[in-house]
Amino acid sequence: MCLEQQALSQILETAIVAARLAGQHAMEEMNYVKATLKNPTELVTDADRHCQQLIVDRIKESFPDHGFIAEEGEPGRIFKRAPRGEPAIWWVIDPIDGTNNFAHAIPIFTVSIGVLYEGRPIAGVVFDPATESMYTAVKGGEAQLNGRRIETGQDDIAAVNSIGLDSHFGDPLPSWVARIIRQSRFRNFGTTALQLAYVAAGGLIGTVVCTPKLWDIAAGVMIAEAAGAIATDWRGRPLFPVDLDNYEGHAFDVLVANRKVHPRLVEWIGA
Ligand code: IPD
Ligand code: CA
Ligand code: CA
Repeated sequence: MCLEQQALSQILETAIVAARLAGQHAMEEMNYVKATLKNPTELVTDADRHCQQLIVDRIKESFPDHGFIAEEGEPGRIFKRAPRGEPAIWWVIDPIDGTNNFAHAIPIFTVSIGVLYEGRPIAGVVFDPATESMYTAVKGGEAQLNGRRIETGQDDIAAVNSIGLDSHFGDPLPSWVARIIRQSRFRNFGTTALQLAYVAAGGLIGTVVCTPKLWDIAAGVMIAEAAGAIATDWRGRPLFPVDLDNYEGHAFDVLVANRKVHPRLVEWIGA
């Protein structure tokens, strides 16, 4: 089945409203954060769960039969509900991407909402509430920041150009990570979704992500690709389609960059 442009517009509108609701709520709740350890290396806050509930409730109002994959489920689990009937559309949600920043009152975090059909993104929204920046894209359309078109740049790897890196590379640190650090102006913002949005807008020439889950990347990859970026795994292979019926939170490895930088980074990583 082919999704009509009108249906896509309604989906995007709903994603925008839900992301704004959750982002605004998170900014308020940042003043009284309650964080606990989710596992030895990750924090979770009450706000993560509250924001996710706001988002899911808002989407259900418009699309009661759609499915959900979201980060915060019962302890140790993801939240998952399969779509009912056709078209089988999944909403993939990270209510707060950048929880560690959020828990430490660093206002660099995003709400990330991707929408997938037949295992591939068809819409994506990344909202940065601190700067009121709404990054959006819908299948067949352009990538936008607050309603204005954005495109990746054409800048090459250079000392004055920034590449986003993740923060959990294994030991020993791969030599290509050191190469990126030495030969570019590397950045880590603590939110993968925002790094993907910055690739879309051209502020980063690329980003390399270690062990993201689907909710970290679904929206950002949609937006980055619509802006002209190439998104693959570290070996240059496609990320999608993903088998959503069987997705239980496995990690990807992801490389998203402008068209000039992507092949160079695939080569560096593979060397
Ligand atoms: C995290 C952020 C961070 C990345 C971590 C993610 P969370 O998401 O995207 O940038 O390095 O791997 O877990 O936990 O704040 O939603
Ligand atoms: Ca995340
Ligand atoms: Ca999260």
